[in-house]
Parts: sequence; C-alpha cells; structure tokens
Amino acid sequence: MYTNIFDSHAHYDDERFSEDLHTLLADIQNAGVSHIVNCATNLSSAKKCIELSEKYPFIYTALGVHPHECSDAQNDELEQIEKLLSHNKCVAVGEIGLDYHYDFSPRELQLDFFEKQLILANKYNLPVIVHDREAHADTMNLLKKYKPKGVVHCFSGSVETAKEVVALGMYIGLGGAVTFKNAKKPLEVAAFVPTDKLLLETDCPYMSPVPFRGKRNDSTLIPYTAQTIAQVKDIDVQQLIDITNNNAKKLFSISD
Ligand code: NI
Repeated sequence: MYTNIFDSHAHYDDERFSEDLHTLLADIQNAGVSHIVNCATNLSSAKKCIELSEKYPFIYTALGVHPHECSDAQNDELEQIEKLLSHNKCVAVGEIGLDYHYDFSPRELQLDFFEKQLILANKYNLPVIVHDREAHADTMNLLKKYKPKGVVHCFSGSVETAKEVVALGMYIGLGGAVTFKNAKKPLEVAAFVPTDKLLLETDCPYMSPVPFRGKRNDSTLIPYTAQTIAQVKDIDVQQLIDITNNNAKKLFSISD
C-alpha cells in the first residue's frame, strides 16, 4: 500500500458523490491519501467546497468559475468568488481556463472569465488551476501574458506545449488519462516532465484510471496513475508519490 498521496484536483462536491461522500472521506486517509485540493466550478460549488474543507482538515479548496459554467454565471459571480479567496483553506484560483472541445460557453466569454481570474490570482498571490481542452494556443497566450504560479491540470497537450508550461515555472497535472490504451501523448508528456514539476490528480468523479475506466473515480485510485508514470520515468512508485506530494505542498503553500 502507498502513503502520502496528494490528489491535486478533485470535485467531491459533484452529485455523483452525494450518496456516500462522508463514508468515503472518513476512510480515505486509511487508503494512503494525505491531502486533497477540491476544485470549485462556480459560486454554489465554491460554497460546498469551502464547507468540505472546513469539515475535513486534509481537504483544501480552489475557488473559481470553470469554462463550462461561464454562461450561467451571475453578473457578480467573480466579485462573490473574490470575497471567498481569503478563506484559510483556499489555496488556489480554480478551476479556470478554456474548453474549445465542448464549447459549453461562448469562447469570448470563456476568454473574459479566464483573463479576469488570472488577474485575481495574481492580485491575491494565489496559484491557478488551469483547464485547457483543445485551446492550447489561447491558453498559452494568456499564461505567458500573466505568468501566474500554478498547474495546467489533466494535461492533454503535446510535449512542445508542456515545455512551454514548464518554462513558465508552472506544473503539469497528470491523471487517469496516462493509463488509457490510446495514451500516446500523455505518456510522452509524463516521460518529459521533470519530476519536480509534476502533480498527481484524479479529476474525480471523472477520468478513472484503467482498470476502472468509465467508473466513478476517487483519490484512492491515484496509485494506478502513479504506477504508470513511475514506470515511464523508471523510478519507484512511492518515491514518485512523495515527490509529487512535496511539489503540491510547495505550490499550494501547505506546510503540514
Ligand atoms: Ni476538474
């Protein structure tokens, strides 16, 4: 069994956890999970994420408006989010970014929310948790412009883009996608990313690693992802978990 697992990206406020959330979280440390950063997707999700972080010492929270949610956001949504950023368990602005795969919100609006939240993060000296799906060029343009601290999560770009992210001093988040059968690019990226720039994540309830692909994901499945990455990098699995735990603590300024 592995210990010291830091899940840098989860969505435990998702309704897929509503039936057994507290049973799952009450026991999750016994499965070796030491820290979780739960990522909000909008204001109501932010409030739920804060409640969870207050109930569980090992849960931290990122607050922000996800690209999918921009269309439904209230006029003052970002002002309301900003007021919550000073919460002592809030460690990042997220999940923010661009999603040109689903395009659930118009791209102009996504760009506007992303830019405003990059500015917010810098204003409060917080790292960002960035979602980039099929929007690599626009994402990189804004990251280069604002140079935030942070992570590009569930990284789906090429090694070339990964190089640009690392050159900005940012981290690369990798999850269950590295275990998928067609995972050519994620594995190339896993091989390239310096271990001191790598974070492990679930994006649960989504992105379950093989052999649980398609089922509900949770932080206890991170070892499957870690094993795949450790194999590619030819290092010990627990060592990889320990390094990524340290990386995440450093990025999110968590001391325990
Ligand atoms: Ni996410």
